[in-house]
Amino acid sequence: MDSSTVVGVIGAGTMGSGIAQVAAQAGHVTYLYDTRPGAAESALASLSKTFDKLVEKGKFTKEEAASVLARIKPANDLKQLASCGLVIEAIVEDLAIKKKLFADLEAIVGPYAILATNTSSLSVTAIAAACTKPGRVIGLHFFNPAPLLPLIEVVPGLASDAQLANRCTKLMAAWGKTPVICKDTPGFIVNRVARPFYGEAIRIYEEGLADMPTIDRAMKEIGGFKMGPFELMDLIGNDVNFTVTKTVWENFFYDPRYKPSFTQQRMVEAGWLGRKTGCGYYTYEQGQVQERPAASGERQVDIEQLLNDICSRILVMLINEAADALHFGIATRDDIDLAMTKGVSYPKGLLKWADDLGIANCLGKLESLQAEFGEDRYRPSPLLRKMARSGATFH
Ligand code: NAI
Repeated sequence: MDSSTVVGVIGAGTMGSGIAQVAAQAGHVTYLYDTRPGAAESALASLSKTFDKLVEKGKFTKEEAASVLARIKPANDLKQLASCGLVIEAIVEDLAIKKKLFADLEAIVGPYAILATNTSSLSVTAIAAACTKPGRVIGLHFFNPAPLLPLIEVVPGLASDAQLANRCTKLMAAWGKTPVICKDTPGFIVNRVARPFYGEAIRIYEEGLADMPTIDRAMKEIGGFKMGPFELMDLIGNDVNFTVTKTVWENFFYDPRYKPSFTQQRMVEAGWLGRKTGCGYYTYEQGQVQERPAASGERQVDIEQLLNDICSRILVMLINEAADALHFGIATRDDIDLAMTKGVSYPKGLLKWADDLGIANCLGKLESLQAEFGEDRYRPSPLLRKMARSGATFH
């Protein structure tokens, strides 16, 4: 595969239009198809506006912008994708609909075409099973916004051809992306490892240890994260975030570590989805973020101690997930750290962070949480135990 390979992108929504932009910027003629009439054309029209701004900012010359846009070809029939060497699907997150699309595609593209899915939460293996040649199917999981975020999780399914992941990794690197390879397991790397950032923050709030702005402040001031968990959930959308949490939990056969929270469920039921509805954990009136008023009679606490306690509790839960992902061979040490810094902009890789904090300290904190609550939610990864015993470090 090189830039002469014709690319097809199916689904011209948030992800599909971004992926088409990335492919066209990398020099590929890119067909963009959507079942919704006019969707591909309107995606192209809004990309054209984006490029006007990029030209204004001096990121592209007028000629470069024009040639990128000219490479994106709206298709109104799936059959127009016949010449594609790589097709990336970014349609609705529904297994039956994706399977039907992959089966239909196989009858259209050539025998060596690669078929990729951008699914966030479905099994690549299950989608591939719809094909007569499942060896050509792979997951290429982009992050939103696809043109800006560098990470791509490359996810071979059970039946993927042996060399397919490496070929796709090379192509994604040629597109200027940062590919990591991971096993076809729920949440891949990022959506699995990041769960406690949200879940443990909500849990701390539910226990009444701190209000939401304080928890957000702890993660930003002490942890160095760009956004606090509640701010980020409001940005992502509580509906989207809750669905990911629920899906990961269900797909892990209800492992209590990933259990969703009533707090977030109620937010979704109330329609308080975050920024997009003007109200979430915070309210957003006329572009102003309003903090919720603190409950009256709040205890006087040592704020520095509280912020440190909140941050370290969430952080060790994140580290535990990263260690467990390594323990189960989901990805390599470096790819796990890369995924969290490049996909969700964490200030540091979690395994590197574990080294800096001391593995034995992280384990000790998890063990005390587990002893205090008696819940499997806090069970430490066997890898942390093993490493603490031997005094090893991740890096
Ligand atoms: P979206 O709703 O913005 O776009 C989906 C598009 O697919 C729509 O335009 C729809 O008309 C079209 N579509 C639906 N069924 C189709 C079919 N059978 N054939 C052709 N087109 C069809 O959705 P979004 O957010 O772009 O998500 C697409 C995929 O990417 C999903 O699998 C999602 O899980 C995944 N994803 C989403 C991310 C996000 O942050 N939105 C991040 C990474 C992955």
